[in-house]
Amino acid sequence: MKKSSSLIICHLFLGFTIFGQVNFSEDIAPIIYENCTSCHRPGEIAPFSLTNYEQVAAWGATIRYVTEIQYMPPWKPDRTYSKFVGEKGLTEAEIQLIADWVDAGTPQGDPALAPPLPNFPSGSQLGTPDLVLEMAEDYFIEGNNQDDYRVFVLPTGLTEDREIAAIEFRPGNTRAVHHALIAYDTNGEAAAMDALSPEYGYESFGDFGVPIQGTFTGYTPGIQSLFFPVGIGKTLPAGADLIIQVHYAPLATNETDRSSLNIFFKAEDDPISREVQNMPITPLDLDGGFFSFSIPPNEIKTFHGTKEIEEDISFISVYPHSHYLGKNWELFAVTPQSDTINIIRINEWDFNWQGSYTFDRMKKIPGGSIIHINASYDNTINNPFNPSNPPQTVAWGEGTTDEMYLVGTSYVRYREGDEDIVMGENQLTNTTDILYDKSNWLQAPYPNPSNGEVSINFYLDKSQNISLKLLDIKGQIVENILEGSVFSSGEHAALFNVRKLPAGVYTIQLSGPYMNLTKPLVVSE
Ligand code: HEC
Repeated sequence: MKKSSSLIICHLFLGFTIFGQVNFSEDIAPIIYENCTSCHRPGEIAPFSLTNYEQVAAWGATIRYVTEIQYMPPWKPDRTYSKFVGEKGLTEAEIQLIADWVDAGTPQGDPALAPPLPNFPSGSQLGTPDLVLEMAEDYFIEGNNQDDYRVFVLPTGLTEDREIAAIEFRPGNTRAVHHALIAYDTNGEAAAMDALSPEYGYESFGDFGVPIQGTFTGYTPGIQSLFFPVGIGKTLPAGADLIIQVHYAPLATNETDRSSLNIFFKAEDDPISREVQNMPITPLDLDGGFFSFSIPPNEIKTFHGTKEIEEDISFISVYPHSHYLGKNWELFAVTPQSDTINIIRINEWDFNWQGSYTFDRMKKIPGGSIIHINASYDNTINNPFNPSNPPQTVAWGEGTTDEMYLVGTSYVRYREGDEDIVMGENQLTNTTDILYDKSNWLQAPYPNPSNGEVSINFYLDKSQNISLKLLDIKGQIVENILEGSVFSSGEHAALFNVRKLPAGVYTIQLSGPYMNLTKPLVVSE
């Protein structure tokens, strides 16, 4: 009790002295830890860490700049156009707060008021996989500051067709893996390609380098894999090879990577009644046909294509793809009633931050609609990514100096009520996954019984203000382990000591705006 009251006094005092002044601990740390630290921490893809006051203050001016131009956190789809699962981005108010903080000289505030660093989940984010396929060898990435694009073949060894609920790419080396695409090959062509040279895998820049039979959602740092909704999934044929195309970011030092795929089969009580289909959009859909896809030097050129949707469908995900000349993308559908349905808009295409985006809810496109696809390419010297100087005529191809006009999509046949299915909300339907069931958010303390240090893990689905208390048998507060602090989404751990407490039965209580969970703890002699 004493401890908590002294904490409150301290709070009031500070609130009085620095009232109105934006500071790191109270204002900036929650924004950075929630939006940046997943990549900006040791061992992750970003080149420096943002895990404490000193680091964030040192980068203050650059952080202000990259957040103002909305370069960071990386999220390419226009958030005002359509909604996707796992959207990243700061609000206007947050961007302003960062600017004000930098203007004020990056004051720290009271370190005690800063939220703790989130505990980032390291294992699977979906639960225990049914099958794990790992790269057969370590792949050596030379530290030559060059991008490296490599395809690896992971034989599934499946002797019968299997229904897939999710495939999760797990980077072996998070510092090196920039993004990865996943597909499957039932004809052994990728394996044959790999066999042509003694090195593990084969090089392929813009694609898998062989014809593929289907795709799964790929990997971009910070974007979570999702289970398909109930009754929906994708059948992986017997004997198929899963193939991954991995983009390794330029690195100054030699590294190795051995990434893997976590595969989750559909549960027995959740068979597939609707198979996920892929509908690629290519230059075959262009107004001028496939061979009109040619980008003259020193020009910015926009291509328009259309695709007719014959029967009602529900879109699940969309993946626009061009190379270094890519400038922007826009996809929308016009229904037979002349209504417009926004699909995706990317105002500033960035090859490095491409991704497959899952709609927040399945997106119905009525039969008879026409999808319009506009993509622009900047083949001038003003495009800093233009791989050719002077610019050359560029046509379709997989190489770095070729271009693509490709949109991967996944969809199912429409069924009434699809609009209400919130994607990613069924994460707990997989029986192996107990963590995402709210009643399990507060894990049992460990060890239990204890007479020393106790650790408690808890999970939050989104950033929120929570407190963690130790109560005695009468429900009186013995200790405020964590008092009213904002924690980000994900797994967290708290440590505390019960050595001085009388033996007996206690209760640990995790409470927040919409939960109140408890677990018993026995303190032994
Ligand atoms: C999904 C991973 C990811 C997230 C989330 C992320 N970053 Fe980055 N950040 C990177 C990578 C990778 C780079 C280096 C490559 C680049 O500049 O694109 C980078 C570069 C930067 C740079 C240096 C830019 C430059 O031009 O030197 C700053 C500053 C930065 N990030 C700040 C932030 C801030 C602030 C946030 C949160 C608001 C954030 N980042 C969120 C991955 C991320």
